[in-house]
Amino acid sequence: MHWTPFILIWLSLLPVEAVKSFLFKKCSESGFCSRNRHFATEVEKLGTEYDSRYSIDLESLKVDPSAGNLHATLLKMLNDGSFVSLDMNISVLEDDNLRLQIDEADRKPVVDHVASRRFNETAKWALAGQPRLQSFRHSVDSEKITLEFHAYRVEIELHPFKITFLRDEKAQLVLNDRNFLNIEHYRTKEQENADNSIHVSPEESTFDAYTDSFKDSRDDKLPLGPESVALDVSFLGAKAVYGIPEHADSFALKDTTDTDPYRLYNVDIFEYETQSKYPMYGSIPFMIGLGETGSAGVFWLNSADTNIDIKKSASQIQTHWISESGILDIVLFAKKTPTQVVQSYSKLTGHSALPNIFSLGYHQCRWNYNDEEDVLDITAKFDESLIPFDAIWLDIEYTDDKKYFTWKKELFPDPERMMGKLGETGRTLIVIIDPHLKVGYDVSDAVVDKKLGIRKNDGSELYHGHSWPGESVWIDGMNPAAQPFWDSLFANGSRLLGSATNAHLWNDMNEPSIFNGPETTAPRDLIHYGDWEHRSVHNVWGLTFHEMTYNALIKRNPDQRPFILTRSFYAGSQRTAAMWTGDNMAKWEYMRESIPMVLTMNAVGFPFAGADIAGFFGNPDKEMQVRWYQTGIWYPFFRAHAHIDSRRREPWVAGEPYTGMMREAIKLRYRLLPLFYTQFYKHSVSGTPVVSSLAFDSPENANVYTIDDQFFVGPLLVKPVTSPDTHSVRLYLPDDKPYYDFVSFEKISGEGFHEVEAPLEKVPVFLRGGSILPSKERYRRSSRLMKNDPYTLYIAADEGRATGELYIDDGETFAYQRGEQVFARFELDGGKLTSTVESTYETGVRIERIVILGGPQATAATVEQDGQKWTAEVVDQGTHVVVRNPKPLVAKNWTISLY
Ligand code: NOJ
Repeated sequence: MHWTPFILIWLSLLPVEAVKSFLFKKCSESGFCSRNRHFATEVEKLGTEYDSRYSIDLESLKVDPSAGNLHATLLKMLNDGSFVSLDMNISVLEDDNLRLQIDEADRKPVVDHVASRRFNETAKWALAGQPRLQSFRHSVDSEKITLEFHAYRVEIELHPFKITFLRDEKAQLVLNDRNFLNIEHYRTKEQENADNSIHVSPEESTFDAYTDSFKDSRDDKLPLGPESVALDVSFLGAKAVYGIPEHADSFALKDTTDTDPYRLYNVDIFEYETQSKYPMYGSIPFMIGLGETGSAGVFWLNSADTNIDIKKSASQIQTHWISESGILDIVLFAKKTPTQVVQSYSKLTGHSALPNIFSLGYHQCRWNYNDEEDVLDITAKFDESLIPFDAIWLDIEYTDDKKYFTWKKELFPDPERMMGKLGETGRTLIVIIDPHLKVGYDVSDAVVDKKLGIRKNDGSELYHGHSWPGESVWIDGMNPAAQPFWDSLFANGSRLLGSATNAHLWNDMNEPSIFNGPETTAPRDLIHYGDWEHRSVHNVWGLTFHEMTYNALIKRNPDQRPFILTRSFYAGSQRTAAMWTGDNMAKWEYMRESIPMVLTMNAVGFPFAGADIAGFFGNPDKEMQVRWYQTGIWYPFFRAHAHIDSRRREPWVAGEPYTGMMREAIKLRYRLLPLFYTQFYKHSVSGTPVVSSLAFDSPENANVYTIDDQFFVGPLLVKPVTSPDTHSVRLYLPDDKPYYDFVSFEKISGEGFHEVEAPLEKVPVFLRGGSILPSKERYRRSSRLMKNDPYTLYIAADEGRATGELYIDDGETFAYQRGEQVFARFELDGGKLTSTVESTYETGVRIERIVILGGPQATAATVEQDGQKWTAEVVDQGTHVVVRNPKPLVAKNWTISLY
């Protein structure tokens, strides 16, 4: 049967503009979610009457304080007073973080081809390496075990089992405060259904424990029965919580008491809604709590379907984490600021690799650019329109009949020639490769022969499902043998990329999206390498696919930084890929929503994020298109993309004055590439966000906790216009520093709201007093062609002082890892401007202009470098002072004295 036409007809009959909510499980329709919500309600009803079933067996305790680890048996009491033994590990990780792991000690094998043990490899994929442990002091009495290290204390109560994590004597996080801990232990259906069953307690529900009654999920065999893990975590003193992408919701997460929980389950969420807790394409189970006295983080290392309830009160925010299967593995962070929390999380899961600089430029995509002529014509039109761009993208139609790694020869007769022509102006080609492989051609045949794909639920042959090419198999990124095969498909000289050096990759549909699968994805009882059920690996599977592509590209060209865009992601995906927010719509509310979504990605250590400009579905009007470019230039990943049915909308299509406005926006992004690159460098070494919410910037100011329509990129405060017919915006200044309009140089100041002008040609952006911003001001066709251009520095003085930074390297190789880099620290102190440089990279690039706002009223300048001295002209322009062509080499120390 051919599914694709059937599905397309079916989808087209449905009402448009709403997520197909009936395709996705609500908590009440999801066995493990509804069982755990029920459990929580019953436990809460009983209040202090409730005696928790969980306690630590003190006799089993083994503590190794110098190794940073303790182990004990956690007992779960059944109805007849007997116990199930659970393995409990508590370790203190470097950076003063606490990890708790609970596994089920004995699980019986059920069926040969399914691993009966709980999935324990989420951490292997998510973490950057084996976490380092840190020693602690400890004491034990009949009620609790206490651990102490630096300013931290951990109190582990034996019965009822509870853990309190304190920083500076103040409790920050409490685990199992509400007794919602629930590890559904192994039992058979017969045991569960027996009269007077010892396995199901009065507070438990048995809904859908051995069958799935939800629509297309009914075929799920659930061979292991109920196996969920759940725990409550209280953030004491928190006023707001952030994180757990991906959701199209506000930056500050909402209370879920009267709604469904936030759900993490990677799905192809067709026509998603805004302000929604629905699952989306990716999952990062990391949440950050913020109060005026500190910030805490919770990282729930589980890759199964996960639901998170949030309950807010004046003194705390209580959360309830519920996963369908796997072990319980949780890391706690408690720091002074949210930035420190995400920095520490990033150390654990890895930083975004320093991007190839071209990938910070403008990307032009649509579904589809039709043929070689189209690609080259678009490229030429950019140049005629004097608009820079760096990469042009090919969506699925470039392939022969959606067979990845092939080309439709009549449309792309010589892909290497095409890439060669793009390369002449420094441009890159990005092609799409999805994980579904059409049955019946050499690539999928090899996957079948070598048994590299996801298997059916009986473990026998490869599973077949439907996606763009029709009937397909899915290569399994969890299988180590898939990597060398994948490498061969990208190898130098291979059919896809030949020997081109300017080609990079787009991995889409890797949730995986399966048109005829339950909830648009894989049946949960499919089998992966290692005999793991898909159920347990689902959310991390997309990562295994894009990491495989990354590794293959590194093999292809070991000294080029690969660029990969992925739609599906998990914690750790940031190490090897950029992400975008999937199929949004050309509507104002989606433009607005893209800001909190990108801020959330930055809050959880995955800064390389963007959204389709100017909306994937539909046709934006010209005003909206201009405003979306003015918003999109601030996304760390800056790409225009459009659905196959939408009209052409490259920036010149709209005509003047709109094209000119888009040109200016894109050019502003290019002027600011040194800033973006420096921000990415700083992230890559220390985990700081590239784009920062006001809450992360000014965590001591509770007024900013829910502001998510403005943000900082380094020292620039930006408030894009995201509504029609708008001529001014209310901008919130989080502090009393002076802020300078980056266009008019007018000054505003004073904490609080300010009405600022925002006519259509203008995006409101302000340079914060006390900072120095590097830029490159000359128009070039692509970022590569800007490499040798001189810099301009913008200085906004605050009481005569300012500081700033600039990072430089070759922009595309790994030479920086061998030390070839420049890091310059600028400082203005009264009339003296200095640059202190750590540099091992040779560049003859100079500084051609310095613009000083609110600084000394100078009329002359002396430049000193390498023992030489010269003068530079200083011109007073009223609102600012300009030092003309001071010419110091940027890679060496210099001083400029202003008189
Ligand atoms: C779904 C992606 O989200 C979209 O960006 C892409 O254009 C289509 N797949 C076709 O590949």
